[in-house]
Amino acid sequence: MVKENIPRHVGFIMDGNGRWAKEHGRPRTYGHKKGADVIHEIVSASFNGGIKAVSLYAFSTENWARPKEEVDSIFELLRKFLKKYAKELIDEEIKLIISGDLSALPENLRTECLERIADTSRFSDHVLNIAINYGSKAEIVHAVNKALEKGKKQISEEDISENSYTSGLPDIDLIVRTGGEQRLSNFFLWQSAYAELYFTDTYWPDFHKKQLNEAVEWYSLRQRRFGDVSPKQG
Ligand code: IPE
Ligand code: IPE
Ligand code: MG
Repeated sequence: MVKENIPRHVGFIMDGNGRWAKEHGRPRTYGHKKGADVIHEIVSASFNGGIKAVSLYAFSTENWARPKEEVDSIFELLRKFLKKYAKELIDEEIKLIISGDLSALPENLRTECLERIADTSRFSDHVLNIAINYGSKAEIVHAVNKALEKGKKQISEEDISENSYTSGLPDIDLIVRTGGEQRLSNFFLWQSAYAELYFTDTYWPDFHKKQLNEAVEWYSLRQRRFGDVSPKQG
């Protein structure tokens, strides 16, 4: 991976599992399994390459529209993933956070999430943020309501950031969306106000370390100006 201009926080919209499966003549659920299989490689390569925070879009509030069998299989894959890497999260000192409304999730997945969060809450150097039952508009409304409950009369940008799921994390520098679509699909709109957007046709199950390096290299060549006239670092 390049060494300069590394994004601090990268968001991955892990899209294309279903089309990958179709191209391989397999059911969509198999595509999700193959997709889940590459997550570990991408997350560890990101942290090893100097990225501090990784956000993954695993299940959107809109994804409830899918057939129940598919939804259940995605939840089961997430539960297994969290269980499999429970020890590694601690050994590698990775803080896990989950963005989204956990109350609607199956009990066993919710428990797995809460246990992993509790186990890793003391860490701060590396953060893995998994968006499950997540939608950005709902998050912003939720943050505003939380600030109002705390007695705020006027809502500031800081209030929304502090009451969002990603409170304390730097904003997203780079969004990588696999699967060819060029849209954000309600993914961390507030946190990516100034993110660089990288779209690739590669389906998520085919997105490996090499493809990650290409995305980070592309990012390192961007000139971020944040409204100014001269480029700014980070
Ligand atoms: C992304 O892959 C995974 C989830 C939305 C959970 P898709 O399942 O959306 O794959 P395509 O877009 O149908 O190929
Ligand atoms: C976005 O993918 C959500 C996740 C990757 C979890 P979708 O496949 O749901 O997005 P749309 O429907 O094509 O916008
Ligand atoms: Mg999709």
